[in-house]
Amino acid sequence: MRARAVRVIDWSANPLRDPGARPSDDDRPLHFHRGLPGYAPTPLIEAPALASEWGVGRAWLKFERERFGLPAFKLLGVSWAARRLLGEPPYDPELELVAATDGNHGRAVARVAREAGIGATILVPAEAAPARIDAIAGEGARVEVVDGSYDDAVRRSAALAGPRRLVLSDTSWPGYEEVPRRVIEGYATIFCEVDEQAGGAPIDVAVIPIGVGALAAAAARHLAGRARLAGVEPTTAACMLESVRAGEITEVPGPHPSIMAGLNAGLPSLVAWPLVSGGFDILCGVEDEVAVEGTRRLASLGLAVGECSGGAAGAAGRLLADPGARAALGAGPGSSVLVLLTEGVTDPDAYARLVA
Ligand SMILES: Cc1ncc(COP(=O)(O)O)c(C=O)c1O
Repeated sequence: MRARAVRVIDWSANPLRDPGARPSDDDRPLHFHRGLPGYAPTPLIEAPALASEWGVGRAWLKFERERFGLPAFKLLGVSWAARRLLGEPPYDPELELVAATDGNHGRAVARVAREAGIGATILVPAEAAPARIDAIAGEGARVEVVDGSYDDAVRRSAALAGPRRLVLSDTSWPGYEEVPRRVIEGYATIFCEVDEQAGGAPIDVAVIPIGVGALAAAAARHLAGRARLAGVEPTTAACMLESVRAGEITEVPGPHPSIMAGLNAGLPSLVAWPLVSGGFDILCGVEDEVAVEGTRRLASLGLAVGECSGGAAGAAGRLLADPGARAALGAGPGSSVLVLLTEGVTDPDAYARLVA
């Protein structure tokens, strides 16, 4: 029996890339978020050491280490979508928000529900880390562990929907599209901030981690036509990579055991798909060792990041060291590269082991 050849990084140029894709300048979410208590932009950090390692002119790290007190970017999409889903306060206390999650999205939904004075049921896959489950329960939500993958948790959340149980999902499926579209819109704040913080300096290449692709859809909405885009997934859950290769949405069945927990999704979001398949230049799957490499490199620069962020940084280094990927991204010694670090440390024990 021959062992499966595992490539540490497996990338493809996107044959579906639409050269006519143009960026949107929708900054309504930015104004909305600025009006919320506790709003603060996350830092855009310039890393000259990475730029010289990667053979590019400038390296920028947008570090979503804290949004409204939570250690990831997710509250940006959830708060903007909740306003549409719930309307104006006061809310019926019998209402409940329902969401499936690998950790970060569910924690944000639980927080928004608590602030609105309503309930939340959050469904997590069997392999969810106890630290992430505790963090969601700590927001006052009821946490249900589903015997299966993240995609099974999504199916269960859809089945729970009812007049008083409102699903606030970052992924979408036929007939459930409006709220996830708003989630994508809400993430625009990240990119509007980058534009301001970079002070008009161009971004030539952006590297974005992908789970269901909602964040990537926001990146495509804001940057397609302005920057070349690279998406990063775990090889075991590379649903966007496999979908662009197949020319249509394709499910990558579980188990999805990557340490990049937020990226363990086997099915792209229906509403994200046209934006990502039309806007991204390359997609790549990476083994966990790339996330470990990236996490350790960032730790050496004084940045404590979660595994998804480590994966994005590790993949950026690997792609920029590969002549074919460099060419597909149009990257050269004068390029500016943006890497989205989407989370701070969300599982402290795992982080301590990883950087030990
Ligand atoms: C930390 C982190 N990064 C990236 C992503 C990917 O976002 P999306 O599922 O919209 O592709 C997630 C999703 O949960 C996440 O938690």
